[in-house]
Amino acid sequence: MIQKPKGTYDIYGGEKAKKLLYIENLLVTLMQKYNYEYFRTPIFEASELFHRGVGETTDIVSKETYDFKDRGDRMMTLRPEGTAGVVRSYIENKLYGGVMPLKTWYYGPMYRYERPQSGRFREFYQFGIEVFGTNDPMTDAEIISIAVNFYKLLGLKGIKVNINSLGDNESRETYRQALVEYLEPYIDELCEDCKDRYTKNPLRILDCKVDKDTDILKNIPKTIDYLNEDSKAHFEAVQAYLKELQIEFVINPSIVRGLDYYTHTVFEVEANVEGFGSQNVLCGGGRYNNLVETMDGPSTPGVGFAMGLERLLTALEFEKIELDYDKGIDLYVIPMSESEKLKAITVTQFLRLNGFSAEIDYMSRNLKNNFKQADRLNSKFVVIIGNEEVETGILTIKNNETKEEYKVKLDEIIDFMDKMLGE
Ligand code: HAM
Repeated sequence: MIQKPKGTYDIYGGEKAKKLLYIENLLVTLMQKYNYEYFRTPIFEASELFHRGVGETTDIVSKETYDFKDRGDRMMTLRPEGTAGVVRSYIENKLYGGVMPLKTWYYGPMYRYERPQSGRFREFYQFGIEVFGTNDPMTDAEIISIAVNFYKLLGLKGIKVNINSLGDNESRETYRQALVEYLEPYIDELCEDCKDRYTKNPLRILDCKVDKDTDILKNIPKTIDYLNEDSKAHFEAVQAYLKELQIEFVINPSIVRGLDYYTHTVFEVEANVEGFGSQNVLCGGGRYNNLVETMDGPSTPGVGFAMGLERLLTALEFEKIELDYDKGIDLYVIPMSESEKLKAITVTQFLRLNGFSAEIDYMSRNLKNNFKQADRLNSKFVVIIGNEEVETGILTIKNNETKEEYKVKLDEIIDFMDKMLGE
């Protein structure tokens, strides 16, 4: 038997599918309210995009990409994240020529060849947003508030927002020098990867999974101690906006993020509930004021985040949160015999096209089994169609909970159901 690839999963109907669709619908309406535009970029891109965008020395690019040569001998990569593709699209479609800021959102599968474990998949879904064209710290605060408000709308309580700042180019350079000086005496004690990172990209040592518990890393200089005046002012303004928006946060100097493109604000939202497991980062992002230029576009500030859908579902389960989606259907239509099927399918279609969720008996069940099926489907009402109903055009409708029975003319069924369901 052929099995699904390691680190992937199927959604095959049921409650999980309903939850997911509910969350996706909520995302769409939330993005409309915040006035973001929907973006969809390819799932595979030229490998170079991620090498230059995300960074050659990051774990994501150096160890985790799915790369392949297409039949035209081009190196392609399944996208490990969404930002690089959206930036490419921004540049390629010359969107910088439009009205700024450009506020975008996207949703879709991402691919990373990571060691699968709970909360960590090789194919996973991200919802993300990217905002181009403004360096206003209000934007940094707004995107953090979007993530938090979304979690709150769903009912999550155990979340913690960690923020930090890497500063602008000047501050980053001062920090890089401080880091190199600090690490120099310890080079021999670092893991092999970190020795390499020391010369190529010392900042990446901060997210080393091997050395993370050593005293060397615990006492490492903090980026916020090396911010110049502008960067400090930016970071303080972000905090002031967050306070005003009543978004609780902590400054956590260890948040540097595993991707190369960040400047100024970086943040992560974690599930802050006991026993959640090690993969507790629900969402992460930050500002990337150099990225568009690095990708050969005109200098444009940017800021964004992405959240994993799988970890969100786990967090909802963990906090035992019941989402408010319809747990059943409005009507179940029962043709009493073969000869009423034509009428029954017409009535069912009529109901469906007029806004009700309706199901019909496809299995020629007897009446008793049909009522069982209506219960299984959690149907609020049952419509019975026998030869009398076909002749008179008056339907028998039963409230499946109270068992009350009504006689309703076919052309009045929509008004009747509207009244019954209180719409
Ligand atoms: P990231 O931190 O690599 O950031 O991923 C964002 C979120 O995706 C994580 O917080 C996590 O919820 C989810 N995630 C990442 N890897 C996995 C995995 N293997 N399995 C399940 N979930 C996962 C980015 O991707 C940046 N592009 C975010 C961003 C947008 N920054 C600015 N704009």
